Amino acid sequence: MTTGRFVAFEGGEGSGKSTQLTLLAEALAAQGADVVQTREPGGSPRGERIRELILAQDSSDLDPRCEALLFAAARADHVAATVRPALNRGAIVLTDRYIDSSVAYQGQARALGEEWVRRISRWATQDLDPDLTIVLDIDPTVGLARAQDANRLEAEPMPFHRAVREAFLRYAQESPDRYVVISADRPPQDVASDVRRAVASVLNPAVSS
Ligand code: TYD
Repeated sequence: MTTGRFVAFEGGEGSGKSTQLTLLAEALAAQGADVVQTREPGGSPRGERIRELILAQDSSDLDPRCEALLFAAARADHVAATVRPALNRGAIVLTDRYIDSSVAYQGQARALGEEWVRRISRWATQDLDPDLTIVLDIDPTVGLARAQDANRLEAEPMPFHRAVREAFLRYAQESPDRYVVISADRPPQDVASDVRRAVASVLNPAVSS
């Protein structure tokens, strides 16, 4: 039984997730909320070690199924060590990427099968779903031009990134009550005010308790 609130940020490369996560975390902390800002892959000491293994340029021969399982393994540790303890004490947890990244990147763009990839992650997390997922949407040609950290996934060709974008938009369309899509190709402060508005309804009960 969790009492906090869990918000995931999803989006393609260069969509500004980490900037927006930080702006939201600062705004909530200023209201006195207990906020935990975290990320995937990573977000726990062991998760960060798995992150290094997955994203390293010299992992270019990593088998796609091994890659998918490593993302899920990192996620299991992240949820067990960081996310659930924070939610159990009533915190607001903001994560930069979560299960949908695996379903979009490995399931759809790498064609491993969205259903399998989702099932593995749901098993890994014991079905912990976000209260809200914010999709920061951007054309990948724009996003990749502004992305700063070259990692192995970012180096994939444009059709891969288009498939990722379309997958996120589809998940949002399928469950409109649990997703908000925000156009990210705008000044960060404009995006930030949309983000604050989007999360207000799920976060306010936690902030005021
Ligand atoms: P990161 O540097 O955090 O990228 P970003 O700033 O875009 O979030 O690297 C994470 C990379 O890993 C990113 O290219 C997306 C990819 N990824 C997956 O392919 N599957 C996953 O489950 C997750 C969490 C990330």
